[in-house]
Amino acid sequence: MADQPYYYVTTPIYYVNDVPHIGHAYTTVAADVLARWHRLRGDRVFFLTGTDEHGQKVARTAEDKGVTPQEWCDTVAPRFEEMNALLDVSNDDFIRTTQARHTAGVVEILETLNANGALYLDDYEGLYCVPCEGYYTPAELVDDAGTPGAGELCPIHKTPVEHMKDRNWFFRLSQYQQPLLDLYESRPDFVRPESRRNEVVAFVRQGLEDISFSRSKITWGVPIPWDRDQVAYVWPDALTNYMTAVGYGTDQARFERDWPATVHMIGKDILRFHAVIWPAMLLAAGLPLPGGVFAHGFLLVGGEKMSKTRANQIHPAELVETFGVDCYRYYFLRDVSFGPDGSFSWESILERYNGDLANDLGNLASRVLNMVERYLGARAPAVPAAGDDPAVDKLVDAVGEAAAEYGRLIDDFDFDDALTVLWGAMRAANRLVEDTEPWHLAKSEDPADRRRLEAVLGAGLETLRIVAVLLSPVMPGACARLWDKLGLDGSPSDGPVPAAALWGGFPEGTAVTKGDALFPRMDAPA
Ligand code: ME8
Ligand code: MG
Repeated sequence: MADQPYYYVTTPIYYVNDVPHIGHAYTTVAADVLARWHRLRGDRVFFLTGTDEHGQKVARTAEDKGVTPQEWCDTVAPRFEEMNALLDVSNDDFIRTTQARHTAGVVEILETLNANGALYLDDYEGLYCVPCEGYYTPAELVDDAGTPGAGELCPIHKTPVEHMKDRNWFFRLSQYQQPLLDLYESRPDFVRPESRRNEVVAFVRQGLEDISFSRSKITWGVPIPWDRDQVAYVWPDALTNYMTAVGYGTDQARFERDWPATVHMIGKDILRFHAVIWPAMLLAAGLPLPGGVFAHGFLLVGGEKMSKTRANQIHPAELVETFGVDCYRYYFLRDVSFGPDGSFSWESILERYNGDLANDLGNLASRVLNMVERYLGARAPAVPAAGDDPAVDKLVDAVGEAAAEYGRLIDDFDFDDALTVLWGAMRAANRLVEDTEPWHLAKSEDPADRRRLEAVLGAGLETLRIVAVLLSPVMPGACARLWDKLGLDGSPSDGPVPAAALWGGFPEGTAVTKGDALFPRMDAPA
């Protein structure tokens, strides 16, 4: 299709100083849902994730472990790929900043910035947070209680900053204040959600300082091409991954085809890098800007930030082992509103599993399939058309409205509301079954009751089919299993939506099988 829309979504590339935890998985799963949703719509999708391997933080971690930085990266990067496999993440590529295809592009952007007069050499002294790989002003630093200006701790990590002094290549960020403000003005969606956009606009309005783009005191990075005593600062190196993965610096034809990205999915901790420094770099290099940045909140555990020192990190495998990958993916998108901070708890994931998955979805599937097996010889009846039975009509309307609303909400990154709306359709189907009592209709000799039985069960099957299609980006495995039970050809993710999710698609006479429960009820762990 010549006019097939292109959708390019990214996650942050994660530092390899740490193994993946549920915070990393959170962004990656959300991006995966968007990628799968756009494939379902028939778009041409490119979904990128990877690892950020240079910089002081990684070099220090390697030193602590007594291995070379490259050895350390080669140990940890595969853990992120394992996380992706474990969580059914459908990334099209996995970029590592130590790959030659990436470093070639870093050289290219540095040379372009330098040729455009955007870099200059200067002395610098400042307060540096190694975990952030960023400088802070004294006014931004906090004390133990988190009060700004009152201490010497990083506002994000609450760890001491270090005094740094260096002679470095600087990027003329200060020149981009007005162009950036114009960008946020002319493209209000460039930074989402709106609260984050307001934060960025207020920050840029205060004025921007030039920023050091190189380091002379470390060697673990991409050498500055014209000054090989320095390496690139890790952030311009890392940000460039979004372009190097699509050929920047190595394959110009591909780059022209596949850049810019549609959306960069990130956490709020790295908003300024993506919403301020990155577009300024691209403007300075004369390159197209991405469609936008979406920054979500932080996942907390027991009300606190996860950290190595607090030893409260939760790793995806611990949860997948108990609840399965589909529940894992569903839970984080449904239970935590996408944007503000949210909390993980074992109680809430168990509640979602039993309530939403075992009860609402699982129960709808097992009771409808069970009755089609028992009363209709395991063959799907015709999908009831509107106008025959008011109770069925109500469900047809509810499913149609939910399907339309669901797509609109996913496009708006509003995953929890999208899922709530879809669950409304399942509850309507469960209610139809309860209100019409097919088990009584099945015993009746009256042909009107027989017609009603077929209409109710046909409507139940069709609701399940539509749910399997729409939910497949969130729970690909469970939806494929449901699809098998429904006896349908192909896969629920074949799409394209909206057509594939319109009422009336279930082929009459299809052989269905109830089989095992999709989500067997689970007792609270002892
Ligand atoms: O910042 N809750 O990498 P990083 C939600 N390498 N999301 C969380 C989270 C939490 N508790 N903890 C981490 C870097 N994240 C840079 C990025 S991009 C060019 C370079 C997620 O390993 C969230 O997406 O520190 C956050 O922005 C990211 O991990 C930070 O990962
Ligand atoms: Mg971080």
